[in-house]
Amino acid sequence: MGSRAVRVRGIRKDFGNVIALDGVDIDVDAGSVHGLVGPNGAGKTTLLGMLLGLSFPDSGELEILGRTVGRDLAVPDGVAGFVDGPGLYPALTARKNLRSLATLRGYAASSVEDALGQVGLLEVADDPVGGFSLGMRQRLGLAAALLGDPRLLVLDEPANGLDPAGKRQVHRVIGSLAEAGVAVIISSHRMDDLAALCSDVTLLSAGRVVFSGPLGKLAAESGDLDYRLVSSDGARAREVAARTSGISIVSGPGMTGGALASDAALVVRGSVPAMDELISRIVGTGLAVRELSPVTPPLEAAFLALTGNTADAADAADAADAADADIIDATGERMR
Ligand SMILES: Nc1ncnc2c1ncn2[C@@H]1O[C@H](COP(=O)(O)OP(=O)(O)OP(=O)(O)O)[C@@H](O)[C@H]1O
Ligand SMILES: [Mg+2]
Repeated sequence: MGSRAVRVRGIRKDFGNVIALDGVDIDVDAGSVHGLVGPNGAGKTTLLGMLLGLSFPDSGELEILGRTVGRDLAVPDGVAGFVDGPGLYPALTARKNLRSLATLRGYAASSVEDALGQVGLLEVADDPVGGFSLGMRQRLGLAAALLGDPRLLVLDEPANGLDPAGKRQVHRVIGSLAEAGVAVIISSHRMDDLAALCSDVTLLSAGRVVFSGPLGKLAAESGDLDYRLVSSDGARAREVAARTSGISIVSGPGMTGGALASDAALVVRGSVPAMDELISRIVGTGLAVRELSPVTPPLEAAFLALTGNTADAADAADAADAADADIIDATGERMR
């Protein structure tokens, strides 16, 4: 898809004895939306700040819009965005904030009205920004980034604090920019945002890339998932599950620690093919399957697995049923 907007190779950045980025490689193509995810402190803001020229790598290669960037080599024109929230003057109105930016950077006044319209802030354009909600400030920050028709848009948690309507609007704006050929790199803690927006995703953990590639491939990294299975007869479904290879029963009727299980529901663990086999066997015995849903969504499960956490129904049950969890811990036995 088009040319490469960002090429990062082996980037390292230390802050004292904290290694914020430890040999990071990333590619972002023109016309794509690339998501950056990872736990708090993973290095996302540090990396995005470098793309905006706010800091420089200690070592490694950084190429932006075809140009090498470094301590004495500035980020080229055509890059816009923000990290750690947009910088705005609270006493000025939204329109005046954007006009002062446009003047400062030499953009036409008409670009201000375009940008306000794109993010849906025309109606409140003459209100002081000090009275704006977090979501409105986020949208204004996006408008500020759009002023100079950027070719690379760098946004640190742009959907943070947005209500569902605001989020849809921001998604629409980002989606249409990408369609027009703009490269977008965004960070988010929300897997549903990434699923709605991104074609590719990079997962950072403690300064290292633990996954980079198409979003669909990340979901496949989740491995065996826990599914809640509701049928017309939970006890019989459990018997069938016990005889199906590749399936383990996490909780079910008559078992302790099963906050998600009931007379009709059991929680089973296995791969997608094993789950297919189980369903066809259950249906084959004459039972009706009413629901089969992952206990943790696949993207979130992959995130947790790749960053060294667990996401299984036993944990969910622990959280939901602390008393049972204590008993399980005390005997040293967990149902797996
Ligand atoms: N200016 C700085 N001085 C010292 N340490 C810093 C500085 N900036 C970042 N760090 C450290 O570098 C690491 C990465 O921080 P960064 O802000 O990039 O993480 P993040 O992935 O954006 O986290 P979050 O999800 O919380 O926003 C952290 O350990 C942080 O404390
Ligand atoms: Mg951050």
